[in-house]
Amino acid sequence: MKRLEIQSSIGKSEIFVGETLTNVSKYLPKTGKIAIITDPVIHKLYGDKFPQADIVLEIPQGESNKCLQSLDVIFEQLIEAEFDRSSFILGIGGGIVCDMSGFIATIFMRGVQFGFVSTTLLGQVDASVGGKNGVNFRGIKNIIGTFNLPKFVICELEILKSLPQEELLSGMGEVVKYGAIYSESLFSYIESHIQEIKNFSLDVLENLVYESVVIKAKIVSQDARESGLRRIFNFGHTFGHAIEKITHLPHGCAVSVGMVYAAKLSVLKGKMKESDCARLITLLSNLGMPISCNVDGSELLKLMKSDKKREGNGVHFVYLTGIGACSVEKITYDELERVVNDLR
Ligand SMILES: NC(=O)c1ccc[n+]([C@@H]2O[C@H](COP(=O)([O-])OP(=O)(O)OC[C@H]3O[C@@H](n4cnc5c(N)ncnc54)[C@H](O)[C@@H]3O)[C@@H](O)[C@H]2O)c1
Ligand SMILES: [Zn+2]
Repeated sequence: MKRLEIQSSIGKSEIFVGETLTNVSKYLPKTGKIAIITDPVIHKLYGDKFPQADIVLEIPQGESNKCLQSLDVIFEQLIEAEFDRSSFILGIGGGIVCDMSGFIATIFMRGVQFGFVSTTLLGQVDASVGGKNGVNFRGIKNIIGTFNLPKFVICELEILKSLPQEELLSGMGEVVKYGAIYSESLFSYIESHIQEIKNFSLDVLENLVYESVVIKAKIVSQDARESGLRRIFNFGHTFGHAIEKITHLPHGCAVSVGMVYAAKLSVLKGKMKESDCARLITLLSNLGMPISCNVDGSELLKLMKSDKKREGNGVHFVYLTGIGACSVEKITYDELERVVNDLR
């Protein structure tokens, strides 16, 4: 097991990579009520390993249930079970469960303590470790939310074995992203362990999750509220979010295609060598990730313009300047419009 810490302006979090769900009770407070928030799939698969709790609440699966309406019933049950300020909320599940249970814990009684057992690769390397919590509103993703760090995050690796293949690939999209923007050594580690990743080697997964979280923790510690440096995590996401909306690919798979477009744009603008761009495409393709998709250029642009990260007539765009290095610069939608068809 590996432990690391995030210390930032929005609080402190301990992350345990390789710890197990069966050990989680030792991280829970000894006094006060405990609520587990989970989803029906995780409850069914792993409910017998859950720690002792006063109440277990389910959030229905799927992005369409990540909304304010789903919170009603949770608050109702917490109040009915007489939860108070000293209570603790434990989210056990993927990114949706973690985003929602963190939000619930932050606003219930103006804030109670909370922790996560993160059960998807995407959750472990991204959703559960950055302090962003929230829900969607009228189709706009994560537009209502808070910044607040959980007391702890448990990343069990064995639990990832029951993940559907495309969910694992979705998480790998974010892992490749960390290597591409920040760590050539993580990137080459992935390149040299493709088969082990496909065979689900727990040692290799532990290294991938740990190295990803080290990068995330380092950046979040410096810029928790995404006013500068943290923007680098958006690599591949300007295109990726739009592609996700059009194609309904899992998030990290849409980001995979988005990274390819962003890398090609980096080459087009003379920021990155063509050979580095080819290296990224080869890695994604060796992992079995999508590297292109058949989407209409004007539809892609329309959706990119509606991105919530839009600023005026453009967006902060993350370019690769090599493998393991990036820069962020504003790009106008006019410029994106000129290049979008070439990139596809
Ligand atoms: N807060 C952040 O910084 C942040 C970052 C990235 C993504 N997110 C959010 O995360 C969400 C996506 O997260 P996700 O990809 O984990 O999706 P998810 O939570 O929907 O989980 C994917 C599916 O896998 C199932 N599942 C979870 N763990 C499993 C396991 N171990 N075995 C078998 N099935 C399992 C779930 O029931 C679900 O059906 C999105 O809502 C996104 O907005 C948040
Ligand atoms: Zn992402």
